[in-house]
Amino acid sequence: MSFIGPKSQAMQKRAQQVIPLGVNSNFRYWGDGTTPYVARAKGSHLWDVDGRRYIDYRLAFGPIILGHAFDEVDQKVVEEIQNGILFAMTSELEVEVIEMLVEMCPAVEMVRLDCSGTEATMHAIRVARAYTGRDLILKFEGNYHGFQDHTLWSTYAPAEAYGNPRSPIPISASSGIPKVMGQLIITLPFNDFEGLERVMRSYGDQIAAVITEPCQGNCAAINPLPGFLERIRELTAQYGALFILDEVKTGFRIANGGAQEYYGIKPDLATYAKAMANGYPLAAFGGSREVMSLIGHGVAQGGTFNNNTPGVAAAYATLKILKERPILKTIEERGKRLMTGLKAIFEENDMPVALCGYPAMFSFAIGLERITNQREWHQSDKALYLKLVEMAIERGVMPDHDAREPWFLCYSHSDADIDETLSVYSDIVKEAKKHWKASW
Ligand SMILES: Cc1ncc(COP(=O)(O)O)c(C=O)c1O
Repeated sequence: MSFIGPKSQAMQKRAQQVIPLGVNSNFRYWGDGTTPYVARAKGSHLWDVDGRRYIDYRLAFGPIILGHAFDEVDQKVVEEIQNGILFAMTSELEVEVIEMLVEMCPAVEMVRLDCSGTEATMHAIRVARAYTGRDLILKFEGNYHGFQDHTLWSTYAPAEAYGNPRSPIPISASSGIPKVMGQLIITLPFNDFEGLERVMRSYGDQIAAVITEPCQGNCAAINPLPGFLERIRELTAQYGALFILDEVKTGFRIANGGAQEYYGIKPDLATYAKAMANGYPLAAFGGSREVMSLIGHGVAQGGTFNNNTPGVAAAYATLKILKERPILKTIEERGKRLMTGLKAIFEENDMPVALCGYPAMFSFAIGLERITNQREWHQSDKALYLKLVEMAIERGVMPDHDAREPWFLCYSHSDADIDETLSVYSDIVKEAKKHWKASW
């Protein structure tokens, strides 16, 4: 019996007639007969086409920071779209949104808007290459920077495929990416201080940028070891490369000023999308005036939908709410309770667990005490993690079906949601322990 209802299963069959895999992003396919189809969402809850209600911890992979269909944001969008949704001209609202971004993000002096995180990282990489006159990009295994070809390398492969950590093999994540682009990328395990020093010594003067997520938001939210981001900052500066911090998941979520504020680091360029507009399509990249000023002076950036009114109006309302109210503090308190409660449940059942990330965006790897990179994470009990996710979904709690994807919290998650989730996990971890052959 599937943990997904009959209407979802029927919808999947219908969708698969006209959409590859029946979904519009590969990540949304959980398998035949096990992929849910959604009807609606409000606050912290989501209902599937079978009418089942879930406490939603996927939050669309992170953008929902206030809550689904958050009235104040939607009202601002409705008000603004009465005056037109796209102009291919710049509006005052758009300038105001960018002024707020500059005020909130410590390293950001100038910004260009985009529509998706993919476009933001793609443009940031172009600007970095233009600024340095170099082509090489250094990225870390397990980090994901969107679907553009430049960094869709070593996002997810078996540890053996990555080769020896001293000289990792960049693994393309898709057929169709020109092999030759592999010559422009160097990969390393995350948190590898020694590897970073070695690569910078050997190639530092050819590297345009080191790009990283602050924590591995696409691999169990593995945190940076103390000093790792700071070391990237020092070494990039020493070798004349740029530091691109991909804050698509951490921006406006772990602090109003993202990881830059949280860790007190200043990258040359930073990318944003998700939480910035509570789910409406808007993204941004920004950085120092010196670097960003290249745009328009021989460096191209643009896009028809970059300043779409729904996205801009939603960002205006969302950023204003984040600035004026202790939203992230509330999320942090609830998230801390959920993280601590989950850890205690695993410990009570004698299961080692490595908790990673931040209260607003966390994950756990079962069977390990600590993880610092994707190679180590591969040794966790992913089968048990998945079994628990499926049992939780049957009981109305929905984390993502992929163990790499963090649990996200939003302002609309209530104390009652946290209590219900802990009660569900308390039951299912006990249950799984009885039936599941542990692999540790
Ligand atoms: C860190 C990071 N960068 C970039 C992206 C790409 O963003 P988008 O899906 O909006 O293109 C994602 C998406 O999950 C992400 O997590």
